Amino acid sequence: MRRALLLALGFSVSLSAQNAIRPLPGGKAWILDAGQTSYAIGVNEHSMVQSLYWGSRLPADAALPAAHSSPDRASFDPSIATTPLEYPAWGAGLFTEPALKVDSSNGDRTLILEFQKAEVKDSILDITLRDQSQPILVHLYYQPYAEGIVARWSRIENTGSAPIQIEQAASATWNLPAGTDYRLSWLTGQWAGEFQLHSAPIQTGMQVLESRRGSTGHQANPWFSIGRQNQTTETSGPVWFGELGWSGSWRITLESTSLNKIRITGGFNPYDFRYPLAPGSALETPRFYAGYTSHGEGEASRILHRFQLAEILPTHPNPKPRPIIYNSWEATEFNVSEEGQAALAERAAKLGIERFVIDDGWFGQRKDDHAGLGDWYVNPQKFPHGLKPVIDKVHSLGMDFGIWVEPEMINPDSDLYRKHPDWAMQMPGRQHTEMRNQLMLNLAREDVKEYVYHWLDELVSNNDIAFLKWDYNRNWAEPGWSTAPGSSPDHPNSDAEKQIYIRFVQNVYDILSRLRQKHPKLEIESCSGGGGRVDLGILRYTDEVWPSDNTDALDRLNIQYGFTHAYTPETMVAWVTDVPNFADGRSIPLEFRFLVMMQGALGIGGNLNKWTDEDLATATRLTAFYKQIRETVQHGNLYRLVSPLEGDASQVEYVSQNGSEAVVFAYLHSQRYGMDYPAVELQGLDPNAIYKIMPLDAQKYRGPETATGAWLMSSGLQLNLSGDYAATAIRMEKQ
Ligand code: GLA
Repeated sequence: MRRALLLALGFSVSLSAQNAIRPLPGGKAWILDAGQTSYAIGVNEHSMVQSLYWGSRLPADAALPAAHSSPDRASFDPSIATTPLEYPAWGAGLFTEPALKVDSSNGDRTLILEFQKAEVKDSILDITLRDQSQPILVHLYYQPYAEGIVARWSRIENTGSAPIQIEQAASATWNLPAGTDYRLSWLTGQWAGEFQLHSAPIQTGMQVLESRRGSTGHQANPWFSIGRQNQTTETSGPVWFGELGWSGSWRITLESTSLNKIRITGGFNPYDFRYPLAPGSALETPRFYAGYTSHGEGEASRILHRFQLAEILPTHPNPKPRPIIYNSWEATEFNVSEEGQAALAERAAKLGIERFVIDDGWFGQRKDDHAGLGDWYVNPQKFPHGLKPVIDKVHSLGMDFGIWVEPEMINPDSDLYRKHPDWAMQMPGRQHTEMRNQLMLNLAREDVKEYVYHWLDELVSNNDIAFLKWDYNRNWAEPGWSTAPGSSPDHPNSDAEKQIYIRFVQNVYDILSRLRQKHPKLEIESCSGGGGRVDLGILRYTDEVWPSDNTDALDRLNIQYGFTHAYTPETMVAWVTDVPNFADGRSIPLEFRFLVMMQGALGIGGNLNKWTDEDLATATRLTAFYKQIRETVQHGNLYRLVSPLEGDASQVEYVSQNGSEAVVFAYLHSQRYGMDYPAVELQGLDPNAIYKIMPLDAQKYRGPETATGAWLMSSGLQLNLSGDYAATAIRMEKQ
């Protein structure tokens, strides 16, 4: 059934690319096959589970050496610290990063986890470990996927009669072959500058990627990629890569010990963290997904893209292509009104826009960002007849309708805050720290969660809304929760209150999931002042993300380049906006802006009232072109041909999953020394097939009308691009 669905979508799943869990004779070792890779683990002579292998697919009859702990290295590095354990717990002389650290109520703060049993259910390998002396069970879960990914997570259970405290809980530890020539790539950023790609040799010591902010954060993204210094490139060489599915405070540590053992441990951020486990209760950690390829960074990204489309996105394995959106945020900001939006909708519809979205400003007393968050009634001055007339208008123009919400936030200047000041996240006796004049609602509270779910449900039930842009415009400052289970205003227990880090995020997921269940056609975008909440946790409930508030086309090239290392173009929304751009004051021609925003899910965000007839004609032509290539861009295989980080030109190519179509975007940021534009050497084509070449602009292409894949991949396409900010696109169809 699944295979039939995947094939219907055009994903080719050869039999050798299937997933399987293969127990080895003796029942103490397992090979997990995931696409072209295998991952193997085994139980060693001390009953500890350790990694055995992570690399290219092992043959069916592969024999693996039995698991053996590494020997002690002098009296200072005991075996437990040198063996590549799958889930190292703190105790017995573990000096490296633990995956788990607990505090039992009898004063014992150590753990020694031993193998108990293993079972396979629903394609998940469940390995049970048990502490030598405390009533604590740990399940390690492994789920291999045909797309080449293994998901790992854990569940910690208190089977005793006294409470325990979890001080640190990761989803998994991944071990790499020992070595000194590894190179790490990672993503950092800031508001208006997300997804900046870095790469550096891994040195002895620890590198920490994290968020302590309560949400994923702009500053680092929970993704890593590791190659070998002199072997790995965009197109070749080994890559071990992974990403964490959690939208709260997270941490991934990359540790290279002085014995050159490389480990990656990731999960809940242990900073300011505690989680009490009452007798009989359990804590499950988020999914940590990882993969391997021997074909370079580009293939690592394509594996992640295919995996996200087939397994993660809410409508997987058959996600609907993203519609072309219009949103007036940059044009009108808070100044929205029935007539103003209706006029923009008329203009947008003529351009081929498919979804019209009203952004911030439509509710409460929201004149600017000082008031209104929390009061989700339609502002009667701006929309005197409610939302219906504008929604009807949008529908009559053939578009569907979306609206902006920021459900986790509250302005002190709001009726909701005046009524429920205790609903804001706070620490006793402390002043609130405001950011953008707003506070966090304490969504860990069940009453607050239910309130938020119900107003959202009502909004969507009472109005024909196809889409929510779900925003989140600050990070946490006073993460207290005086009514948390185990705490009360009279007897505060700050350790119990730290559950807020987990309960808050679980409740956000719960609201999203219930909304989607009740309104199966509703689509949702994850926005957090741009790309502050992009991760595989939120992407299980949201169809797309807003990668950055920065819509400058030159900056976007870099942001999108970084973004696609970790996430599929299907989710990468981008609007064409006006110039000079607010971010850098730069003025880039309209066609270049369009061609940059077409790298993912195209949208328009300019003030259409000010666009000239020529602008409108260009926009109409280019949205029509985008509709022809959208399926290939959003569901195809992405090849980053020339990086925008390297010079004055960049190129990307997409090949449809069935190989029948390809499209290339070529950009010249700035011409130098009168040099010709570099040939576009394609990748991923069938060398023996003939392709019909269809340029967007015949003036910008010089070359034959048809060519073989082999020729296109070696000689490449010759383009006439000159000056600054010149760009074009070429479609290719297999004959
Ligand atoms: C955030 C979003 C923007 C816009 C504003 C509205 O900054 O990223 O796109 O929605 O909020 O206040």
